[in-house]
Amino acid sequence: MTPLLLSLAAGGTSAAAQGTSKTLVACFSRSGNTRVVAGQVRRALGADLFEIEPDIPYPDDYFATVAQAQQERDRGYEPLLKTTADTIARYSTVFLGFPIWGMTAPPVIRSFLSTHDLSGKTIVPLVTHGGYGLGDSMRVVAGHAPQANVLDAFSTQAPQERETIERVSAWLDQQQIQK
Ligand SMILES: Cc1cc2nc3c(=O)[nH]c(=O)nc-3n(C[C@H](O)[C@H](O)[C@H](O)COP(=O)(O)O)c2cc1C
Repeated sequence: MTPLLLSLAAGGTSAAAQGTSKTLVACFSRSGNTRVVAGQVRRALGADLFEIEPDIPYPDDYFATVAQAQQERDRGYEPLLKTTADTIARYSTVFLGFPIWGMTAPPVIRSFLSTHDLSGKTIVPLVTHGGYGLGDSMRVVAGHAPQANVLDAFSTQAPQERETIERVSAWLDQQQIQK
């Protein structure tokens, strides 16, 4: 059984998967924490991997991303996906990896759930957060995939990009390096 990385083409749909795995790991990750979790599950189970990405990437700047994510969450916005997993029908189990954003699932996770038919499938959330827990993300997953069987999540605390940025900034301020 050869695990697949579903290939992504800008604005299109994912390439047709030729593998035989019945398990998909679908993952959105900004700073890499959730990608590590998803990668381990994918390797251990020989599953296929699909990277969930918004069509328009979030800003490189962390604080701009926080502001945009908060605004999108508050108005229930579901951003267009860069690609869809066009072979979703052949999977019976979907591990769904995402970070907690603003105490909930990121907008792009709602987009993924809205645009893929997951009825009858088992969903296993893989969640990383900065220390404040799952928020209402499990309610969001269940509500956006009402015909799926959503199992208890794996969740773990993982480093916050913000803390790293603040440490680097404080260190840089002491270095007296010219721009
Ligand atoms: C826009 C944004 C919002 C966040 N909001 C929360 C939050 O509400 N609660 C929390 O515990 N962590 C929050 N975090 C921290 C991330 O959930 C945590 O660092 C996660 O592991 C990042 O995963 P990633 O590296 O896969 O992107 C937030 C991070 C970002 C970028």
